[in-house]
Amino acid sequence: MLVLGIESSCDDCAAAVLADGRRILAHAIHSQFHIHQAYGGVVPELASRDHLEKIVPVLETVMAQAGLAWEQLEGIAVTRGPGLIGSLLVGLSAAKALAFSLDIPFYGVNHLEGHLLAIFLEDLAPAFPFLGLIISGGHTSLYQVNGFSEYRRLGQTRDDAAGEAFDKGAKLLGLGYPGGTAIDRMGSRGNPAAFHFPRAMASAKTLDFSFSGLKTALRHFLEQRGEPFVQEHLQDVAASYQEAVVDSLLQKLSQAISLTRIPRVVLSGGVAANSRLRARMQELADREALEVFFPSPFLCTDNAAMIAAAGTRHLQCGETSPLSLNADPNLQL
Ligand code: KG4
Ligand code: ZN
Repeated sequence: MLVLGIESSCDDCAAAVLADGRRILAHAIHSQFHIHQAYGGVVPELASRDHLEKIVPVLETVMAQAGLAWEQLEGIAVTRGPGLIGSLLVGLSAAKALAFSLDIPFYGVNHLEGHLLAIFLEDLAPAFPFLGLIISGGHTSLYQVNGFSEYRRLGQTRDDAAGEAFDKGAKLLGLGYPGGTAIDRMGSRGNPAAFHFPRAMASAKTLDFSFSGLKTALRHFLEQRGEPFVQEHLQDVAASYQEAVVDSLLQKLSQAISLTRIPRVVLSGGVAANSRLRARMQELADREALEVFFPSPFLCTDNAAMIAAAGTRHLQCGETSPLSLNADPNLQL
């Protein structure tokens, strides 16, 4: 089954063509990074306007790369939520227009299901059940995945996402946007135990996360120590701040592993690229005999291949969406 995937939930305009939900024939992505960089975060209105300009060229590019004619497509998968409403509507409208004109089915995919299933595009995929931790700029959610379409949410962030903690921390430290890579780079040369930042809800029974207090703690730290001190110890501050995020994520993951007795973990989302998190996760895995899976970087961040992979599973089960389907910015999984 040849399926075109479309992803436009935030600031990436992406398309991909998949054969049988497994084989990527082509994928293309237009990043809006350069547009939002000056604002230190995604500006929804600018995002949707840019999607509108780029969606058709991105779709044409991916079809040309795949060497396919439109008529050869057998289905369309598109992100219907969660995300920014204006951005979502651009992808969804394009998907509906194509499905209608080509007279083929389409399916509105939950973006989070896409992240959870991205690992199935790799050669080495996990067995069920596994624990799926989605950590990105917009999400921090932990799922027990018992099978395709069998998801149980164990916890999620009560405020900021893990990526947001990196981005806001980097902004306070003057390291630019997006902040994850900057803190990762800076922190790799610092001492993670140099300063102490809070690990929210560490001893609580809940598997929920919280990161907004961490950012506030960093602001207070900066006010107390002053700019010259912080600049002089920037690598140690970045490493210590990063350690608090990593500790918080691993603490809840360890709790979930003990509770569910599932020794298999998949990490995805942009924050899964963090080198300290990967190293600490590997240590934990070696110590506790866990299997850990990280999708390739381009499958960790927002992409249309994961949407096509998830959508194909539904389409193959005969599930389709009506042309009246609306985007849902708060769609739950
Ligand atoms: O999945 P993604 O590309 O987009 C969504 O938010 O959906 O994730 C972007 C997030 C940003 O917050 C960025 O700072 C973070 O992932 N990120 C990282 C790293 N690379 C990207 N965070 C920590 N370490 C990294 N190496
Ligand atoms: Zn995402």
